[in-house]
Amino acid sequence: MAGPAPQEHMKTQQKCIAIFALVCCFAILLALFFSSVDIWGDSEDGITEENCSKNCSIVLVENIPEDLFPTDAKRGVPLSAGFHTLLDLAKYSVEVVSPVWTLTSWDTEPTPGSAKQGQLLFQRLIGLKSRGVKLKIASSLTDSHELKTLAVHGAEVTFVNMSVFTKGGLHSSFWIVDREHLYIGSGEMDWRSFSKRKELGLMLYNCSCLALDLHRVFSFYWQLHERDYIPTIWSRRVSALYKRHEPLELQVNETEATTYVSTSPELFCSKDRTKDIDAIYQVIHSAKTFILISVTDYLPLVDRKLRGSTVTRYWSIIDEVIREAVVLRGVKVRMLITYWKETHPLTFNFVSSLKSLCLQLHNCSLEVRFFSQKEKKGDFQDPLNHNKYVLTDNSLYMGNHDLVGSDFAINAGVGLVIMMQNNLKNRRKTILGQVTTVGIQQRRRAKTPDCPRLMPLQTEEDGAAALDTALFSI
Ligand SMILES: *[C@@H]1O[C@H](CO)[C@@H](O)[C@H](O)[C@H]1NC(C)=O
Ligand SMILES: *[C@@H]1O[C@H](CO)[C@@H](O)[C@H](O)[C@H]1NC(C)=O
Ligand SMILES: *[C@@H]1O[C@H](CO)[C@@H](O)[C@H](O)[C@H]1NC(C)=O
Ligand SMILES: *[C@@H]1O[C@H](CO)[C@@H](O)[C@H](O)[C@H]1NC(C)=O
Ligand SMILES: *[C@@H]1O[C@H](CO)[C@@H](O)[C@H](O)[C@H]1NC(C)=O
Ligand SMILES: *[C@@H]1O[C@H](CO)[C@@H](O)[C@H](O)[C@H]1NC(C)=O
Repeated sequence: MAGPAPQEHMKTQQKCIAIFALVCCFAILLALFFSSVDIWGDSEDGITEENCSKNCSIVLVENIPEDLFPTDAKRGVPLSAGFHTLLDLAKYSVEVVSPVWTLTSWDTEPTPGSAKQGQLLFQRLIGLKSRGVKLKIASSLTDSHELKTLAVHGAEVTFVNMSVFTKGGLHSSFWIVDREHLYIGSGEMDWRSFSKRKELGLMLYNCSCLALDLHRVFSFYWQLHERDYIPTIWSRRVSALYKRHEPLELQVNETEATTYVSTSPELFCSKDRTKDIDAIYQVIHSAKTFILISVTDYLPLVDRKLRGSTVTRYWSIIDEVIREAVVLRGVKVRMLITYWKETHPLTFNFVSSLKSLCLQLHNCSLEVRFFSQKEKKGDFQDPLNHNKYVLTDNSLYMGNHDLVGSDFAINAGVGLVIMMQNNLKNRRKTILGQVTTVGIQQRRRAKTPDCPRLMPLQTEEDGAAALDTALFSI
């Protein structure tokens, strides 16, 4: 009788030890898991999703090249003034992502006067430390003189080695100030953005809910520092707060709106983050009466790497949804594209193809205009129209990429979608109305014919030469 009892006892003991060991292992694993996950996000002290502000004030900011537009034209708030306002408001932190840092480059500019705004902004960024404001910059630039200077003056600069991830660049362009105010748009930390180029962007003040979400994108870039892989497990602190199917509901200047932030490339879309391309798709797809697209380049092609060589593919997603809107829903489409030295000759073929859709169709309207500089013939160094937005009767997408497939595939960028009710009483007074006005004014100034006649373009030289004769200029 006494025999089996100690044995049983031993067995139970062994079982206990085994279970205990397992529990320990599990606990250690769990601890490791959470500690490693936590590395992927920094603290979000102060404002949280629960008590962030949804009562935002929005301001459209633009840069208009001086020599190009008559001074009597009604203007929005200058881009540079917008940045100065943000810097005035900054109490704790300024976080900046920009594809380039050339605010002070004098060498390329014959008349230093036009570089003044960039220079001023650079001086103010340097001065942030003396006010006790932290300046944080994420960048994929390896050898930027300006970033080095800023680092010497107390800025924290994080390098994201994009060549390990996609071989692209960190082309995002946005600011976050105190996690309360933000900027997003085409203007970059480049003196040209304040002088020679047509830029458009948005400033959102007292908008901590949106700033919090954009900050998560920034945190994500920040965590890529000295890493050569993207984790499969995401920290809660870099995953999206709002998305296409669950957007943020807020007030912009007392008007109800829904918004969310989108990103690209796909590899950089953390958990729940909407892809830029899906955001643009949604905006175009939900248009009821009109679509206005303003970009530097339009090229529905994507270069993909296949076994070491590059293969070019048709990138149909945006081209398709435009066609559908124009032909099947009778939505009016207006496009503004820049003609400059990098304009791909096939742009005109794709655009002509879009235009030919409306042949013999009633209620079908698609117009494309090209921007170019006549005075400086042969000098198409810099794109004149640098805007990157899609506007419809009910939504606005303001982003960092042109409608070029390869951009979305390899370059990092962000976009902001703002959607409003269709039947707004005072649409003119909303941000959508303001952008519409800007778009129409801009279109009037692009007095080019809609598109050069369909012509076979064999080489880039052929294309450029044919265009020179086909295009009128502003
Ligand atoms: C928001 O909530 C967090 C934590 O609940 C708190 O620490 C913070 O002070 C709050 N912020 C504001 C502005 O109320
Ligand atoms: C939102 O802010 C504006 C001014 O900043 C103010 O007039 C308005 O009453 C606020 N609305 C709400 C709901 O807090
Ligand atoms: C970026 O990563 C690539 C590939 O690992 C490496 O060759 C290169 O040196 C890195 N660049 C920098 C500036 O660290
Ligand atoms: C932000 O909100 C505060 C308090 O409601 C207000 O005093 C301030 O003017 C607002 N700032 C901006 C830039 O709208
Ligand atoms: C074309 O537009 C007119 C007026 O806007 C409308 O009455 C007509 O039904 C439309 N036709 C089609 C085929 O959609
Ligand atoms: C929103 O309100 C701000 C501050 O009152 C103003 O400067 C701005 O022009 C308004 N924006 C729009 C789109 O009406």
